[in-house]
Amino acid sequence: MPEPITETVETPRLRLEPLAVHHAEEMADVLGDPRLHRYIGGAPLPLGELRARYEHLVAGPSPFHQEQWLNWIVRRRRDGRAVGTVQATVTPGQDGPCASVAWVIGMPYQGFGFASEAARALVDWLGGRGVRRVVANVHPANLASAAVARRAGLRPTGGRAGDEVVWSDGGDP
Ligand SMILES: CC(C)(COP(=O)(O)OP(=O)(O)OC[C@H]1O[C@@H](n2cnc3c(N)ncnc32)[C@H](O)[C@@H]1OP(=O)(O)O)[C@@H](O)C(=O)NCCC(=O)NCCS
Repeated sequence: MPEPITETVETPRLRLEPLAVHHAEEMADVLGDPRLHRYIGGAPLPLGELRARYEHLVAGPSPFHQEQWLNWIVRRRRDGRAVGTVQATVTPGQDGPCASVAWVIGMPYQGFGFASEAARALVDWLGGRGVRRVVANVHPANLASAAVARRAGLRPTGGRAGDEVVWSDGGDP
């Protein structure tokens, strides 16, 4: 599988910054609101657990899994404030790598188009690095995330993953 090494991605208002363990300090606050988990399950992690999670993510999966975990902090360029995260899990596919993507924007920063801007940049970046298909699993009631997926060029497929709808950019399955 080609190696889409994580790198900084710039958009007009945002900087996607490759995740590092030290980001846990600022992200514990940004991601600390239980409302963020309404459609994705789970609960906010306390700082120690978030740091451990970031250590795990940064270390990456074992080579056995043939996956890549790509994680970015979404930072507002105007003031350098961290506002959320985007991620892609890249797996080998028959005709090339496939990426499963997801996004989270902290409650105070929602409604400004940040998720749409970050997701579009993420999908473009993946496409530029040989990823042939991008998918996202979105809960049918998560209308904001569906709008983000649509703006990133994804469309709902007939597929389901548990109680979520599979969205795709129409690339080869
Ligand atoms: C989904 C999420 C990332 C959207 O973040 P955001 O930065 O507010 O998104 P945007 O500002 O780019 O808005 C996206 C669209 O959703 C719409 N939207 C926002 N909240 C909405 C709501 N409650 N119901 C319907 N539409 C909504 C916005 O109006 C916008 O559409 P428009 O530009 O056509 O008006 C954010 O709500 C979030 O982090 N949720 C919790 C985590 C999550 O569910 N992640 C998705 C995993 S698949």
